[in-house]
Amino acid sequence: MSQDAKKRQVAEAAFDRIRDMLDANTPIGIGTGSTANHFIDVLGESGLQIGGAVASSDATKNRLVQIGIEILDLNSTGSLSLYVDGADACDPRLNLIKGGGAALTREKIIAEASKFFLCIADDSKRVDVLGEFPLPIEVIPMARSLVGRKLVELGGDPAYRQGVITDNGNVIIDVHGLSIVDPQALETAINQIPGVVTCGLFAHRRADSILLASDAGVIELTRD
Ligand code: A5P
Repeated sequence: MSQDAKKRQVAEAAFDRIRDMLDANTPIGIGTGSTANHFIDVLGESGLQIGGAVASSDATKNRLVQIGIEILDLNSTGSLSLYVDGADACDPRLNLIKGGGAALTREKIIAEASKFFLCIADDSKRVDVLGEFPLPIEVIPMARSLVGRKLVELGGDPAYRQGVITDNGNVIIDVHGLSIVDPQALETAINQIPGVVTCGLFAHRRADSILLASDAGVIELTRD
């Protein structure tokens, strides 16, 4: 099965998994990327009415508008019952690397604001130790060089993602060469560097559940 077919498969499984949580009065959070796009497609095809969505990027916002879902401001929704999003990598403890699509900051905000974070991915994203997928970091532009030097001190090999400006007007540094054995500690250390908006490690607020699509079907990883 192709990677794209697996993404569609896991999006359908996610819809089945959370169908009971969806109704016309309940807003949800929806993330960014090709797997999240499949989920939006499945939602649209279902015809089910939901109480609007908080989107983690302008791209997701546009896609949701196309299927008639109202876009909501997180400042007016209060906490959300559910957030559905993809990931670039996940470990067995449900820690994630996110931000391959440069939407990590809004993704982290929505994840933090949500009671249940359902991550959806194909099985190529599953690793024992995070770090092979370069860790994205959103940085205020004037701090790019400073942050780069600090990341070298932390043992990483930072690369400026050329030509990318985030929805928040910032730049992305991708950190290569890390073996992330303590994701929470590294998340804290990177987030303390002046100029860092946030790093793409989702360890303090990891997923509550991950649905993973493989050739053998979809499996669910939970925290227990
Ligand atoms: C967006 O910034 C990322 O966090 C995405 O969630 C991640 O890149 C997953 O993308 P795909 O679903 O396209 O693999």
